[in-house]
Amino acid sequence: MKVTKEVILHKKNKEKITMLTAYDYTIAKILDDAGIDILLVGDSYGMTQLGYETTLPVTMEEMLIVTKAVAKASKRAFVVGDMPFLSYQTDVTTAVQNAGLFLKQANADAVKIEYTSSFYETAKAIVDSHIPLMGHIGLTPQSVKQMSGYKVQGQSINSALQLLREAKELESLGAFAIVLEGVPAELAKLITQEVAIPTIGIGAGSFCDGQVLVINDVLGLNPNFSPKHNKQYVNLYDAIFSVAEKYKQDVQMAKFPKAKNSSHLTSQTIKSIKREWEQMNK
Ligand code: KIV
Repeated sequence: MKVTKEVILHKKNKEKITMLTAYDYTIAKILDDAGIDILLVGDSYGMTQLGYETTLPVTMEEMLIVTKAVAKASKRAFVVGDMPFLSYQTDVTTAVQNAGLFLKQANADAVKIEYTSSFYETAKAIVDSHIPLMGHIGLTPQSVKQMSGYKVQGQSINSALQLLREAKELESLGAFAIVLEGVPAELAKLITQEVAIPTIGIGAGSFCDGQVLVINDVLGLNPNFSPKHNKQYVNLYDAIFSVAEKYKQDVQMAKFPKAKNSSHLTSQTIKSIKREWEQMNK
């Protein structure tokens, strides 16, 4: 049965919600088959797949193509498209139009925005347009320049109170879930207790209603990056590296392909081809 936003809401205080990022059809299909509840087409796509330094250069065009592929693969999982930098920050009309494109063109089930109180009207307009909304608070990567780096948020009383306020605003304007990123576990617990909608944590401890990780980190695809919040389940970098080395050796030493890897002609047919070819070139 397809996961809906009601299914997600219903899991609060009952069952943990599982969410992973996905950026292509093949991986999305595997995650969907494995029963992950939510596939987030994160704008982390720009860093993991396009090699950008930050998520800031990611465009709507890029996000829509990738979200469409993930949505096509998802029979059960709920698909959330991440609104890229400047697709919702400039004005409410542009924000609603761009949010709508995730549903209209890419077949996403919902959108996510990095929320602060200044986006209250925007977030409310998205929800009022019947576009399911997930809010993202705490360490919000699109604000990396303003935060002067990727830093844990909510460590001072004022900053913690601000996050509590933002979570309550998201609940009141009708968001169906909140991502808490880079927030101390005790504060994440308090926020989770204070709101009736599910919280989904990344680097926010175990008290959230669900957890999200970046698929590349989980699969160990980048040997130079394993953040503290991550759990790496496999080392795909080493596995793929060693496959590439073996393949290179096989090709260079003519061990691949073998006869069974090709189709073949009878000796009679190849003789006839050669004869015809010679006659044509006389
Ligand atoms: O873009 C992303 O991958 C995200 C998650 C880290 C929550 O926003």
